[in-house]
Amino acid sequence: MVKISVSGNIPNEIDQLKGFFNIVSRESGDFHVHFSDENDTLTRQDRASISPGFTSPIFLNRLNSMGKKQPLLKAIGIEKPIQSVLDISMGWGVDAFTMAYFGLQVTAIERNPLVFLLVERALARLEEFENLSEAAKRMNLVSGDSREFLKNCGKKHDVVFYDPMFPSEFKSGVSKKEMAFLEELDCIGGGGEEKIINFASQNAQKRVVVKRSKHAPQIHPNVSHSIESKLLRYDVYLTVS
Ligand SMILES: C[S@@+](CC[C@H](N)C(=O)[O-])C[C@H]1O[C@@H](n2cnc3c(N)ncnc32)[C@H](O)[C@@H]1O
Repeated sequence: MVKISVSGNIPNEIDQLKGFFNIVSRESGDFHVHFSDENDTLTRQDRASISPGFTSPIFLNRLNSMGKKQPLLKAIGIEKPIQSVLDISMGWGVDAFTMAYFGLQVTAIERNPLVFLLVERALARLEEFENLSEAAKRMNLVSGDSREFLKNCGKKHDVVFYDPMFPSEFKSGVSKKEMAFLEELDCIGGGGEEKIINFASQNAQKRVVVKRSKHAPQIHPNVSHSIESKLLRYDVYLTVS
């Protein structure tokens, strides 16, 4: 079990991490989380750190310069039009936030309670940012396992988006460091990805989109078409309404 130590303005939700993480004293943790109202910082033993959030100028410049031409949004079918997306592997929420920023209603599910908590807090901070708070309001975060959620949610969403994590398979969209942190925080998928795509196909009104490294094999054979970028590939599975 990954060992985590915490400091700062520790939120009550920290109790929800117990069972998933071993909460220890500062000296012996694999990671340290410092909570503050301005931003939270996650630091590894080698002192590398990240602060999950959506306000970095690099991230916002990329969003604004590429606009709706981004391969992710093309794969989602943003011009069709579509309205709602279910992101069944939220991670740091970069893809989910991108979709919400461009007007989509996004329900995003994350099973790792620390990742969930840090993203939830980062979104709450956007209230102060006029241009970003609207996107945050379009996001509905769910803490839990997508497989359970898919069993019960019915065919409510236009698109299901899935970005499974495989060992040491780094992708862009979020930086390598942020992906490495997810891997070390025990976010690797436990197998059964093909089955999850089958479940997702039953839930998506229009399509399922699966994010892969560019040369990674398809997870499920029934790909309708793919959208590629320099490092990534989005496999699109069209579904029947
Ligand atoms: C590759 S990361 C996603 C990165 C994300 N697209 C982003 O923009 O940051 C995969 C995430 O899915 C989560 N995950 C994997 N299987 C899951 C499941 N069955 N239910 C919910 N979350 C899951 C992992 O904990 C991990 O955070």
